[in-house]
Amino acid sequence: MTLTPRQENLLKHTFLDYYQTSEFLEHPLILNKADGLYYWDVEGKRYFDAIGGIFVATLGHHHPRLLDAVRRQLDQITFAPPLHGIAEVTLDFVEKIGTVTPGNLKYVKAFSGGSEAVEAALKFVRQYFKQTGHPGKYKFVSRYLGYHGGTFGGMAASGTGPRKTKFEPQMAGFVKVFPPSYYRDRFATWEEANRFAAESFEDVIIAEDPETVAGVIVEPVGNTGGIITPTPEYFQIIRRACDRHNVILIFDEVITGFAKTGRMFAAQTFGVTPDIICTGKGISNGVIPLGAMIAREDMAAAFFGAPGDGVQFAHGHTFAGNPLACALGIAVVNEIVEHRLDEKAVRLGDYLVSRLECLKKYGVVREVRGKGVLRGVELVKDTRSMEPYPDLGNAFKRTALANGLILRVDPTWFAVCPALTADESAIDEMCDLIEKSLADALAVVRH
Ligand SMILES: Cc1ncc(COP(=O)(O)O)c(C=O)c1O
Repeated sequence: MTLTPRQENLLKHTFLDYYQTSEFLEHPLILNKADGLYYWDVEGKRYFDAIGGIFVATLGHHHPRLLDAVRRQLDQITFAPPLHGIAEVTLDFVEKIGTVTPGNLKYVKAFSGGSEAVEAALKFVRQYFKQTGHPGKYKFVSRYLGYHGGTFGGMAASGTGPRKTKFEPQMAGFVKVFPPSYYRDRFATWEEANRFAAESFEDVIIAEDPETVAGVIVEPVGNTGGIITPTPEYFQIIRRACDRHNVILIFDEVITGFAKTGRMFAAQTFGVTPDIICTGKGISNGVIPLGAMIAREDMAAAFFGAPGDGVQFAHGHTFAGNPLACALGIAVVNEIVEHRLDEKAVRLGDYLVSRLECLKKYGVVREVRGKGVLRGVELVKDTRSMEPYPDLGNAFKRTALANGLILRVDPTWFAVCPALTADESAIDEMCDLIEKSLADALAVVRH
């Protein structure tokens, strides 16, 4: 699209997320309409949204049931600061989330997004140990290549170099291990690489002294690392290590939550129950900002206290538990449950994989990975050397946009996560656009 002087000037008065403004000005995208599986830009061009905005619009854009839920709530109560009261609908939200979580994860606090949920979880865990007889436990073990948010706590837990080194020194008390993908080529099988990577958590917990380690935080499927998809055994090993050393296991399900991976939460997909789940993105389908920290209900007892003794979780945000957002979150869960969209994610995901696997004929796809409709494709120069191919990814980013396709390219891999309202023919339409864009990108880099 072509920018007007006003648009160009305004773009210089703001910034995009993790996107260089000067580069964006060369390939701008200004949107003003979204419906179902599509976005439209201000010039009227239509784009297939292959990634639900950014792993958010799992039910498609402009969903009538979700809009109705917000409209009804608008007439009821739109703001109740969680400082001296709580909206009834916020309590309904707590109850609703508790019906779909694994284990006894029923202690729910709503926030305005994923970073706030992560930040709350980190503080919750540190305070939990301070008041349960282990005041020395404060460290968190997380992974290189992981992403847990743009705030200082989330950033300290993240392992994405370029996004964090500019802001060093980071918060103290965050230790990293490598994800299984780091060891992929050093072991004969993916299973062995996963076993080794999972065992490194316990090695580090012991080396740091378990009486100083409070928590482990991991994304069940690691987006920023390239849709890293561990084996179920990987999480079982981490779970056992956490149990042995009284360490709280946090799953950052900001991306993986709400049906994309084939169950409501990836914890259920992988069959391992953490102590805390952090959510965001799909929980509101993007209509209104929403996130939540969901913890084991027995952990909450440590924060209950007796009237007047001051024991409480010392945390809060003005917009936490916003009534409009909570009404929306309830509608999202109802829609997923009533239409069994988690099961649909498995069926649709299988079809999506069969189509993405066909891209291997171009000789530049190393692997298709992920769970359900959350899928990633790794691009290489050729399948003998398996050398990463960022030039291809960068070209693909441009050709996709030109062909009316929005997806995530990073640039040695790309990710898709189509809405669960799609059917096989929509997946075909999306995959045709992906294939055309990849062929166009290959033409550019091989020119
Ligand atoms: C795994 C993960 N955790 C946390 C966050 C932060 O969420 P938000 O951007 O809503 O603050 C993100 C955002 O992309 C994420 O992918």
